[in-house]
Amino acid sequence: MILSQILNTISPVMAINIIIGTQWGDEGKGKLIDYLASKSDLTIRFHGGNNAGHTVVNQYGEFAMHLIPSGIFNKGSKAIIANGVILDLEVLINEIDILEKAGIKLDKRLLISPRCHIIMPYHRILDKLYEDIKGDNKTGTTGKGIGPAYADKVSYNGIRLYDLSNKKIFSEKLKTQLLIKNKILKSLGGTPLIQKDIEKKYFKFFSKIKPFIHESFPLIEKSIKNNDNILLEGAHGVFLDNDWGTYPFVTASNILPGEINSGAGIPPQKINNVIGISKAYTTRVGQGPFPTELFDNNKNILVERGHEYGTTTGRERRCGWFDSNLIRFAIRINGINKIAITKLDILDSFKTIKICTHYEIDNNKVNYEDIGTECLFKVKPVYKTLKGWEQNTNGIKNYKDLPKEAKEYINEIEKQIGMRISYISTGQERENIIKL
Ligand code: GDP
Ligand code: IMO
Ligand code: MG
Repeated sequence: MILSQILNTISPVMAINIIIGTQWGDEGKGKLIDYLASKSDLTIRFHGGNNAGHTVVNQYGEFAMHLIPSGIFNKGSKAIIANGVILDLEVLINEIDILEKAGIKLDKRLLISPRCHIIMPYHRILDKLYEDIKGDNKTGTTGKGIGPAYADKVSYNGIRLYDLSNKKIFSEKLKTQLLIKNKILKSLGGTPLIQKDIEKKYFKFFSKIKPFIHESFPLIEKSIKNNDNILLEGAHGVFLDNDWGTYPFVTASNILPGEINSGAGIPPQKINNVIGISKAYTTRVGQGPFPTELFDNNKNILVERGHEYGTTTGRERRCGWFDSNLIRFAIRINGINKIAITKLDILDSFKTIKICTHYEIDNNKVNYEDIGTECLFKVKPVYKTLKGWEQNTNGIKNYKDLPKEAKEYINEIEKQIGMRISYISTGQERENIIKL
């Protein structure tokens, strides 16, 4: 082992940590990243777009972060929106304004890669038109234009910040795209878009974000060489991954840790910790299979106590019991070596709580990876029922202060997923967390 590797294993300060949602998103990534960022030099978003909504609650207030990394609140940390992220410039500018108004200095602290692809007005319109046409078979997207923008990226029709930095190139590329897109829009019953209107808007956007645009690779490379503490902010969740999620009820980007290589230019072997994050129960927004979904009053309790409404769209989230089968798969495929459980306090009022131990089809045990999406709609979740604690755990910071039944619930999760838990979150605020 070379010296830097030895130092990395003995010192938690020098590390590259990646946070991965292990369910269908909204696990509390923003909360954990804001907490962990107190020790980080750099926080990086490397995929997805403003379909993400990461809530941060700290001394500056409550923020819904859609594009700017949630570690930005740590004054000592820089934040990078790396090349794998697709940008809605209006949302980005709005977020910059909100942070600056809250007193967060962004100058020389926020860097945006010129390689980022831009979400164009036709992407958002197409997203909605595709959903309307699919009717009952729709994905239930956030409507932010994510799928169409990534589709243009991989089919060589994308427009990047690089292009927007040169008015002539941008205009030429936009002209070509409107030749294609206006035909599609018209044929789907949409209204054609006018080049001049888009140019005017986007040139204005560009002048606002120009000071932040800078190739991020040299800074990241230097940071790795300096053994800095780097936090990679995964978005969404494993089961929304375009390859490994419940396709087609997924998002357009890849979510697994390997994505940091193409999405941020970080060599994959540099990762020290893959930190998985899971709610103490399960939620999902949009369509698709959800084996442990609840439809009774328990669901209403989770929605109301957990404020389970989408951070990005405000849609009510579907809710269900903790699903060990999903988390076991997430641990295996991501190489997760630390796990955080959030929103334990939301379960405070239940008399009994269920944990799904495995799935069955026709009395045979099946695993997530063995079946396709259609089959996942039909599995029977098998549950173990535990006694609830019926006491307030909100804000508890020491494990010893948890009620006996809450400890038993945590122990059962550990037993089912085959891993010790490293963090238990007990409230929205940064400091409401138990470190184990
Ligand atoms: P993300 O997308 O993974 O960052 O999660 P979201 O921010 O979309 O949704 C998580 C919600 O749960 C947010 O409103 C958080 O403030 C909140 N939250 C996170 N952890 C906890 C916790 O331990 N307890 C409670 N009560 N709320 C939490
Ligand atoms: P964070 O990072 C929850 C879901 C959408 C929809 C599907 C496809 O906050 O956890 P898209 O707009 O991406 O084309 O929609 O993916 N989805 C999320 N659900 N949290 C997210 O992000 C999500 N990002 C995408 O609800 O089902
Ligand atoms: Mg979210």
